[in-house]
Amino acid sequence: SAPTAEVGDLVVITDAAVIIDGDRIAWSGPADEAKAALDTLHTQLAAPRSADAEIHNGEIAAVSGIETIDLGGKAVIPGFVDSHNHLIFAGDRSAEFAARMAGEKYSAGGIATTVAATRAAGDEELEANLVHLLDQATRQGTTTFEVKSGYGLTLDGEIRALDIIGRHTPESTLMAAHVIPPEHKADPEAYVSLIIDEIIPASVGKAKWIDVFCETGAFDEDQTRRIIEAGKAAGLLPRLHANQLTEGGALRLGAELGCVSVDHATFASDADLATLAEAGTVVTLLPGVEFSTRQPYPDVRRYLAAGVSVAIASDCNPGSCFTNSLPFCIAVAVRDMHFTVDQAVWAATAGGAHALARTDVGHLGAGARADLVVLDAPSYRHLAYRPGVQLVDQVFSGGELVA
Ligand code: NIG
Ligand code: FE
Repeated sequence: SAPTAEVGDLVVITDAAVIIDGDRIAWSGPADEAKAALDTLHTQLAAPRSADAEIHNGEIAAVSGIETIDLGGKAVIPGFVDSHNHLIFAGDRSAEFAARMAGEKYSAGGIATTVAATRAAGDEELEANLVHLLDQATRQGTTTFEVKSGYGLTLDGEIRALDIIGRHTPESTLMAAHVIPPEHKADPEAYVSLIIDEIIPASVGKAKWIDVFCETGAFDEDQTRRIIEAGKAAGLLPRLHANQLTEGGALRLGAELGCVSVDHATFASDADLATLAEAGTVVTLLPGVEFSTRQPYPDVRRYLAAGVSVAIASDCNPGSCFTNSLPFCIAVAVRDMHFTVDQAVWAATAGGAHALARTDVGHLGAGARADLVVLDAPSYRHLAYRPGVQLVDQVFSGGELVA
């Protein structure tokens, strides 16, 4: 069904069939109704239908050419919508992770390490790294990717990141406001001006979104407000990194600024949640970050009780969380953040679509993009029930088998 704001409101059809036409889902429903649906569709579709097309349980039928696939009872879910990623970078921070697991605390300071390595890297290396990570995520069932800039932190460095991102996904985010780069440490306002006066104007037509890391040690609320307002004035859609490390005012600011999503929200007061629910701002929770930084897991039951709509994303990045597996994030969300399995699967599909203001992905209703994941399991519940097991069997993106 089309995504709704009801977190966990999964439509589950036992013995289902899906009819794909080109890159779109033409119909989905009970398998025993598929033949009639195909007849009806046939009259509306240009492609001729072969006389004796047969529909089996759990089958995917491609109407153009009537190629049929019998999935033998395997579960089919929408492709995951990963609405938060930092994938344009070079270098390795595994030593920082190991030190953290040995007791060090995560801080935004590590970002500078990646900025130095990224600035030193060529375009080909950055693009190859992106493609490698996207391919990995595809094999984990992700079919929609948001990707942020934010490790260049110069006009040229941010724009080249957006150019590379734009060759691979329409969900591109300008995150020049990630941290204050080393050369501007003495005069952070000069960097804020560079973002507002030069980087934002140059990103128009290249970025869909603007994001700011609103946090102690990154950008304060006043700077965040000015950068987001400038981005909005340039036509970019706003989102925020909010309350990842401290319980500041970033979540309320995100609601006030009309952000589509506020992400992390590791710390959130009841007043924050009430404000976000009232504004209709999506809260994107990032279970892999709490896992990889040993921060406390937020309890989603409190967020849902406040009436907030939540999404789950990976936040794949070299520092705070280097997983790009949404099955892993779903398992952690269920185990440690008290999502029900249904809520977690919804949040990583329909929820991610909400967080990206998309209605054509994250569900399998007629008209949606034909982005489907076939699980090597009889139920979507196995995603949390069998953590760490490769259950993603086949992945279709726009009707094409891609993994
Ligand atoms: O979403 N919070 C800021 N940005 C990333 C981490 C970036 C890094 O550590 O390199 C995040 O957690
Ligand atoms: Fe992030």
